[in-house]
Amino acid sequence: MATAAAHQTDSTAAFHSDDASAGADGFERAFDAAVAADERIEPRDWMPDAYRSTLIRQIAQHAHSEIIGMQPEANWITRAPSLRRKAILMAKVQDEAGHGLYLYSAAETLGASREELLDKLHSGRQKYSSIFNYPTLTWADVGAIGWLVDGAAITNQVPLCRCSYGPYARAMVRVCKEESFHQRQGYELLLALSRGTPEQHAMAQDAVDRWWWPSLMMFGPPDDESQHSAQSMAWKIKRHSNDELRQRFVDICVPQAESLGLTLPDPDLTWNEERGHHDFGAIDWTEFWDVLKGNGPCNEQRLTQRRRAHEEGAWVREAAAAHAAKRAARTARTTETTGATQA
Ligand code: 3HC
Repeated sequence: MATAAAHQTDSTAAFHSDDASAGADGFERAFDAAVAADERIEPRDWMPDAYRSTLIRQIAQHAHSEIIGMQPEANWITRAPSLRRKAILMAKVQDEAGHGLYLYSAAETLGASREELLDKLHSGRQKYSSIFNYPTLTWADVGAIGWLVDGAAITNQVPLCRCSYGPYARAMVRVCKEESFHQRQGYELLLALSRGTPEQHAMAQDAVDRWWWPSLMMFGPPDDESQHSAQSMAWKIKRHSNDELRQRFVDICVPQAESLGLTLPDPDLTWNEERGHHDFGAIDWTEFWDVLKGNGPCNEQRLTQRRRAHEEGAWVREAAAAHAAKRAARTARTTETTGATQA
């Protein structure tokens, strides 16, 4: 049992233990008290069914985003302009696979197997982030993805390090460290292009023009249309609303775009002294919902490629399972022999 707070309160001690005498109501009260006290909920703790299913939904969507997110950039590994850029990009794409693994493992602690979740992804019953349904047309897109997409991911995920569910929160700590490297490499790549030839500068600007609005959509629908936010925030799964995080991201990006010498494609972007934030233009939510329905430029391509990769990887899963079975049998034989000798 781990707690986010330094000490767990007496009122929640029974809930964290296996003390079944508390009864269903008692467990629910203790769960609520643990969340209120900023304690971490751990896999063996009692939790409401809806809390469990909300976490599975969000973690699964997050995991799927990580592994589908490998595709748009992997597209550029063979065409990276230098060995240094290639090594960086390969490391980044491998990191995303690792993030998927931590997240599928976190979902497993809630009773959802990786096989079941992948099946839901492949059959379109679970979502992945809208952002990965856009194409990577030029090398500058690798920079724009790093700066904007990974930047948006960090803005969204740093607060998740304080998520009430322990395994998800802990996975996020490492994910965020790696995402910071991803963001930095994207920024540095765009800076090199922006300060390069006029053609390179134009390529960087074009990439930012195409990725800006979809990056703002990553944070999810506006608060008044976000069906899960209120409950997820009450459970401290989410710590901020979609609009709060989107605003934070815009405020971070504006000075960075200036340093890059690039323009954000929004004529309505202005500093609002009164609010202490930047105002920005209207997001095309029709496009967002359309992409979620499967009608983005690359939805079909991404899912087809994912299903193919899964089928082609069947032999690896079979070999790993056979190896694990062989090791387990060997261990069982050794234990039997040792036991017999000792007896
Ligand atoms: N793309 C696809 N679906 C989205 C979405 C997006 N950008 N934003 C919201 N949705 C979906 C929700 O999943 C929900 O659908 P569902 O009921 O079928 O699950 C519906 O739209 C309504 O949205 P809500 O605001 O009510 O949903 P949430 O409360 O779950 O908030 C979220 C959405 C902010 C994305 C939240 O789930 C979250 O913070 N998730 C964890 C982070 C994550 O998944 N990030 C993926 C980004 S990419 C990434 O991390 C890879 C990195 O390498 C760049």
